[in-house]
Amino acid sequence: MKKTISVLTFAFIMVMCGFTACNGKEKTDNPVPKVDASAKGDTKISSGNFSLEWVRTYSNITFTLQGKTTGWISIMIDAKNKMKDGDIYIGYVKDGKAYMRDEFGVQPWKHQPDTEIGGKDHILSCTGFEKDGFTQITFTIDLSYRDPYDSAFEPGEHTVVFAAGADDTFTSKHKQLAMVKVKF
Ligand code: HEM
Repeated sequence: MKKTISVLTFAFIMVMCGFTACNGKEKTDNPVPKVDASAKGDTKISSGNFSLEWVRTYSNITFTLQGKTTGWISIMIDAKNKMKDGDIYIGYVKDGKAYMRDEFGVQPWKHQPDTEIGGKDHILSCTGFEKDGFTQITFTIDLSYRDPYDSAFEPGEHTVVFAAGADDTFTSKHKQLAMVKVKF
C-alpha cells in the first residue's frame, strides 16, 4: 500500500512538472523564432500565422505574403545578426491600398529604406487587402538590377524571417516573428 502511494505521488509530481514547463513555454512573450525548412522545388511556405508564396521569372520575383495582423507585415532575407544586413520588404494595407518598401538592416536593431542609403527601391508593384484580421500583400521585385542592399535570390538555401506589427507604419516594433529556410 505504502509502495503504491509512493509510486502515485512520484507520477503526480512528474506530470505537474511537465505541465509547468509547457505552460512556461507557451507564455513567452517574445518566442524564439521557429525554423521550418522548405523542400526543394516548393513555391509556398508557412510558419505560424505567416505564409509566403512566390513565382519567379527571369527578371523578377512575385511574392504573396500573408500574416495575421491589420498592421504591417514583412519578410527579411539572409540577415547576419538580428536585422543586420537583411534584405527587408515591409508593407501594410490602409483604406484598401497597399504600401510596400524595400529596406535594409543597417544595424542589428535598425533598418532603413534602400533609397536613404544609396540604393534603389526595387518593388515594381504591390496590391493587397485585409480580411478576417489577416493582411495579404502581393508584390513584385525587379531582379534585373540589384544594389548592395538587395538579396540576389541565388540558388540555394536562404533564411527568411517573417515579422508583423500592429500598426499601419514602417516603424512600429513587431508583435510576431518567425523564421523559415527557403530555396527560391
Ligand atoms: C518596423 C520596425 C522595427 C522595429 C522598431 C524593430 C525593433 C526591434 C527591437 C527593439 C529588437 C530587439 C529585441 C527585442 O526587443 O525584441 C528587434 C529584434 C529583432 N527584429 Fe526587429 N524591429 C523592426 C522591424 C523588423 C523587421 C521588419 C524584421 C524582419 C522581417 C525584424 C526582425 C527582427 C529579428 C529577427 C530580431 C531579433 C529577435 C531575437 O533575437 O530574439 N524586425 N527588433
